[in-house]
Amino acid sequence: QFQKGVKQLVENGGIHMVPQRYILPASERPTTRTIEEQDDDSNVVGNQKLELPIIDFSELMGPNRFQVLQSLAHACEHYGFFQLVNHGISEEVTRRMKDVMGRFFNQEYEERAKHMTSDMKAAVRYGTSFSQNKDSVLCWRDFLKLLSHPLSHYLPHWPQSPMDLREVAATYAEETKNLFLSLMEAILESLGIKEEEEEENNDNNNKIMKKLEESGSQMMVANLYPPCPEPDLTLGMPPHSDYGLLTLLLQDEEVEGLQIQFQGKWLTVKPISNAFVVNLGDHLEIYSNGKYKSVLHRVLVNAKKSRLSVASLHSLPFDCTVKPSPKLINEANPKRYKDTDFHTFLAYVSSQEPKGKDFLHSRK
Ligand code: SIN
Ligand code: FE2
Repeated sequence: QFQKGVKQLVENGGIHMVPQRYILPASERPTTRTIEEQDDDSNVVGNQKLELPIIDFSELMGPNRFQVLQSLAHACEHYGFFQLVNHGISEEVTRRMKDVMGRFFNQEYEERAKHMTSDMKAAVRYGTSFSQNKDSVLCWRDFLKLLSHPLSHYLPHWPQSPMDLREVAATYAEETKNLFLSLMEAILESLGIKEEEEEENNDNNNKIMKKLEESGSQMMVANLYPPCPEPDLTLGMPPHSDYGLLTLLLQDEEVEGLQIQFQGKWLTVKPISNAFVVNLGDHLEIYSNGKYKSVLHRVLVNAKKSRLSVASLHSLPFDCTVKPSPKLINEANPKRYKDTDFHTFLAYVSSQEPKGKDFLHSRK
């Protein structure tokens, strides 16, 4: 029954209570306060909002690049998250993407279920919860994952219903991939790494931009969080960090839900219009030798409203080794993470029940 997902559960029964399988232990519920927070009413869940740093992409690509790089560095060091505005992807492209994903989830269960699989490497995967087979408590979330790069390889496997899904999602994949490349270049520059200077260096693993332009991996994830009768008892996604380099997240503009850990507290990100919420993943924390942070985040659910988000996850090619850039290692700043090949990384991530930044800690 639970394998069919939350949408099916909510629509079938018209439920008034959260089933046991979704109820978190008291200490992990979103309303739980830490000891230091107990006298502080502002910490009641949902009350504290966080305005993320705003990076203006058009400014970054213009004559003020240098100043914007400073703000970018600050955001990457202290938040691990930022809002990207004036990013050049048209409102039509983002609106159509959210719209088609909404229509995908609104189809009959049988249509969605065609894409259910336990194969983690499948080009298309429809499912529920977070790590469906390992979660001891299920999450209030259904998802559709699409491998997206190389596009011509994966596109013929994507759902054909709704009819326009392939066309809309392909445009979205290409545009987010290009935006990711420009952002990565800026982030490397903000770390003081200029790729051209490395031409003489024979260590191929460090020509990260070249690798990303040639291949790189990309996965798009559409998330649906149906209304939940008891939103204080469960989560849409548990605390986790993303494993890759960067995630570009298209949030629901009306229904908030994303929380990030900031200075020891869970704070709700205030959505802003026409922006991407960008966050740094574990690979970037490792590559930057810990200077930049891959920050824990989670998702709250809503009593009345359904929430939809679309994440585009970008990373290195699967055959790559992830390791700190030699340019960021010196006597004052010794190497902080071990080298890992991507396969070991993914195997580790998928063998663990997500509980924070396990993988990063295992590589220290
Ligand atoms: C995430 O991808 O971790 C969060 C997605 C969301 O805000 O729904
Ligand atoms: Fe995430």
